[in-house]
Amino acid sequence: MFIVLEGIDGTGKSTQARLLAEWFRSRGREVVTSREPTDGPWGTRLRESAAAGRLSADEELRYFLKDRRQHVDELIRPSLEAGKVVILDRYYFSTMAYQGARGFDPGEIRIKNEAFAPVPDHLFILDLDVDAALERVGARGDTANEFERRDALQKCREIFLTLRDEPFVHVVDTSGGLEQVQAEIRGKLA
Ligand code: TYD
Repeated sequence: MFIVLEGIDGTGKSTQARLLAEWFRSRGREVVTSREPTDGPWGTRLRESAAAGRLSADEELRYFLKDRRQHVDELIRPSLEAGKVVILDRYYFSTMAYQGARGFDPGEIRIKNEAFAPVPDHLFILDLDVDAALERVGARGDTANEFERRDALQKCREIFLTLRDEPFVHVVDTSGGLEQVQAEIRGKLA
């Protein structure tokens, strides 16, 4: 089973991923959790760029694709083939949203990714109003870096929501709190 959590910054993806992994483990399943950008060479460069001056749009897109290829080859495919549950905090839908917000065509980004990256069984889009999301990011003490500019996030949210009618996609309202969100995710999976 391959599960992906997406959403703009501040929607609680990493917490939900952790809680979901605990749930599967308590039910005896072997779980692998991971995130993108990864902690590999390309992902590390991307994380650094968020703080130290952003890469050009072309370069950024290229790095995300390289990071993902490596992630798919080294972790995602082998784990799925071994029968493990794979839970990702961000995947190529983030590229559609964030690099889409930077001017690329989200549909083309999707095609490029699906040429090598497996489509998840379930995509949970954690949804929240941009102002509320920004407030949460501030409350967490994160600096509002380049990636987190309001207009861009608004565009990202819109692009994520264009996926809402696909059969494997679930949009979850995250304004209600952690436990409620986790319960809704588990409910859909059960
Ligand atoms: P994020 O999950 O927010 O990392 P952290 O919790 O360490 O801040 O990811 C970092 C940023 O990367 C986030 O703002 C979204 C962006 N991003 C893209 O622009 N394209 C992508 O394909 C991915 C996976 C992430």
